[in-house]
This record gives sequence, C-alpha cells and structure tokens, in this order.
Amino acid sequence: MSLKGKHIVLGITGSIAAYKAAYLLRAFVKKGAEVQVVITPAGKEFITPVTLSALSGKPVVSEFFTANDGTWHSHVDLGLWADVMVIAPATASTIGKMVHGIADNMLITTYLSAKAPVFVAPAMDLDMFAHPSTQHNLDMLRSYGNYIIEPTSGELASHLEGKGRMEEPDRIVAIIEEFFAQKQVLAGKKVMITAGPTYEKLDPVRFIGNYSSGKMGFAIAEACAKAGADVTLVAGPVSLKTVHPAIRRIDVESADEMYDAVVSEFGHHNAAIMCAAVADYKPATCCPEKMKRSADDMTLQLVPNRDIAAAVGAIKRDDQCLVGFALETNNEEVNAQSKLEKKNLDFIVLNSLQDPGAGFRCDTNKVTIIERDGISTDYPCKSKAEVAKDIVEKLAEYINRK
Ligand code: C5P
Repeated sequence: MSLKGKHIVLGITGSIAAYKAAYLLRAFVKKGAEVQVVITPAGKEFITPVTLSALSGKPVVSEFFTANDGTWHSHVDLGLWADVMVIAPATASTIGKMVHGIADNMLITTYLSAKAPVFVAPAMDLDMFAHPSTQHNLDMLRSYGNYIIEPTSGELASHLEGKGRMEEPDRIVAIIEEFFAQKQVLAGKKVMITAGPTYEKLDPVRFIGNYSSGKMGFAIAEACAKAGADVTLVAGPVSLKTVHPAIRRIDVESADEMYDAVVSEFGHHNAAIMCAAVADYKPATCCPEKMKRSADDMTLQLVPNRDIAAAVGAIKRDDQCLVGFALETNNEEVNAQSKLEKKNLDFIVLNSLQDPGAGFRCDTNKVTIIERDGISTDYPCKSKAEVAKDIVEKLAEYINRK
C-alpha cells in the first residue's frame, strides 16, 4: 500500500520514545506521504528539529512565531492541510491537554483546528499509563472520535516491564495505511443496529436477561460508521462504550423499549441489522415490590415479547435492507433459513454455540451468512471487528443494489 500524496501532520511530544518518531517519519515519507512535524517544547529536548526537518524536507513547527523574523505559523492552516494527524509519541501531559483544550503550544492548537482524523500513540511508564486519570483521558479522546493506538507491553525506558511502550513505527504506518485503504462503502447511508441483551423486569431488583455482551453489535456499529454510514445504535444494557462520532446511541432496557425505538426510527434508515439478543418472553406482571422468599415452589407466568425483526420485516420498503442474526445450538442452517423467510430478512448471520470461539462474551466469532437464494458462505473464526467488516461488505452489496 502507499500513502502517496497524503498530508500527515506528525505531532511529537516529550517522551523518550520521540527517538522512534524519526523512524516513523522516515517510513511515512518512504510511503510517499508529505509530512509536517509539529513538536512540543519538551519534545525538542528528546530529538532535534534538525533531524526531523532533514527527514521531512520541511521546517519543523514548534513555536507560534519564528523568533528571528516574527513569522506566524498558522495552526488553522496546518489543521486544514492535514489528511490525518498522528501524535506519536503522546505523553500523559499532551493527552490531558488535548482532552481539556489547554492550547498552550502549537501541537495542541493544531489538534484543536484539525478537521482530519487524529491518531494518538501513547508512550509512558506503566503506572502512568494505568493511572485512572490517563485511562479516563484516553476514553475522553475516544469519545471525541480520536483513534488511540494502544501501547504495547515490554521493557520500558525505566527498565520496568509493563504496558506503555509506544507501538512500533512500522505498525503505526500499517494502521494509517489501513485507514486510508478502508473503502467508504456505506457513504451517505443510514444504518440502524440493535445490540446487547434485554432485561425483562420481574420486580424492582430482579430481571430475566441473557449472556449477550453487545460486543458483536457494537463492532458492527463501529464498522458501519468507519465505512461512512450514519449509525443509530439501539443498545440494551451493556457496559460498552461507543467510540465513533457518527454513532448515535439510544439506550434501552426491555424488549418493549427496544421495539418502540426501532419501529419508530426504522423509516429513516436504509438498513437495519438486528444483532440484539432479545428476550422471547417477559414476565406477565412486574411485581411492584420485591418478591419475598417462601417455602413454596414459585411459578412465573411469562408472555411472549413482540418480535422486533419480524415487525421491521413487515414494514420494510423495497429500498430498505434488513439483516438478522441467529444463534443456534442445533439444526443451525435449517433454523436460520426459516427465520430468514419468516422475518422477511435480506440475509441472516448464523453463529453456532457449538463452534469454539463463537457466541456470547468472547472477542471472536465464527459465522455463516445465509442469503435468500439459499447461498450460504462460511467465514473462518475471526475477531468480532473482522466479522463486522465482512457483514458490512455484504450489506453494502445489498444496499448499493437497491
Ligand atoms: O427468532 P430468534 O429470536 O432466534 O431470531 C433472532 C433474530 O431476531 C435476531 O436478529 C434478533 O435480533 C431478532 N429478534 C428480534 N426481536 C425478538 C426476537 C428476536 O428482533 N423479539
């Protein structure tokens, strides 16, 4: 892959890993990118601007003004020039300033002006990295839509062992290349996704739920957003965070709440992917007070929940696409095929609890996509993020054909 013609602003801060930034810069240039270095005052203590300007072929920017001739460096122009901004290494201090907009140096002002995606590669000692303050700040950056390139574990400059080493330059280059290679196959499309379990209330402290973690649905939401879609994520009770700014999240608890949110919103969407593990039944009544223990057996009366996917299938227009999931323990393909037809889906993603590495709570999944014409495609066991990409590709085929 190449980065030919790409404009990269490379932000360098005062970490010992700044020495690796020279290699990173060289690698970007070798791939054909134009790189403008912006360095913090502390960064210059670790690596000289002379090295960096020789490698980039451009004067390094650090101050708001050039001292001898009074030239003002426009962080706004730089922010707009960038196709991507990469801050590597990023210290805890710079990360904190980015979170709070403390614009006291050229790097932070450029960051605040940048319209391009921003990648942040933290580098620091293991305890600094693990500190709740750093972790909170990284979460905040994620919530602004920035991408965090996780540090790796190993021996640190302090000679301690742990997580905090800046990711290797070659890997950072690969991440940026991958970013540019990603096709915007869902540009301009609106996609709704359901994710997670539902909780069906028994009394004020108890519910009927299931083991769904929401990881698959959240990965699909992220993949759709990265492919250019505007995403509405209707999420049951999960402990996951949404990262991408193009994801609008609606939190619900019960199947009824999920039904109302999905059915009222579906009309504005090009597609819906029903990934939630919706409870099929709910208690016939919800006890207003906590149910008391007694020596007798207890029988709960359950009534069926409405099927959200089937309801959406019934109102689906010809220009809309509907995708379902089937988690089966037996007779997988036959059951999935019958759901595909009953719910009027365009295709269904089957995962079997019999496959190792598939299903609830794990970070991987192994799926088969079954289409209406009976074609079924088996995919190998992959990370949920990779599975999400396969689903997005298939969805794009369908949407772009409607
Ligand atoms: O029929 P079953 O629940 O196995 O079908 C699974 C598919 O239907 C999934 O896509 C799931 O999100 C969806 N579903 C739904 N509403 C329900 C039950 C399932 O949307 N009440």
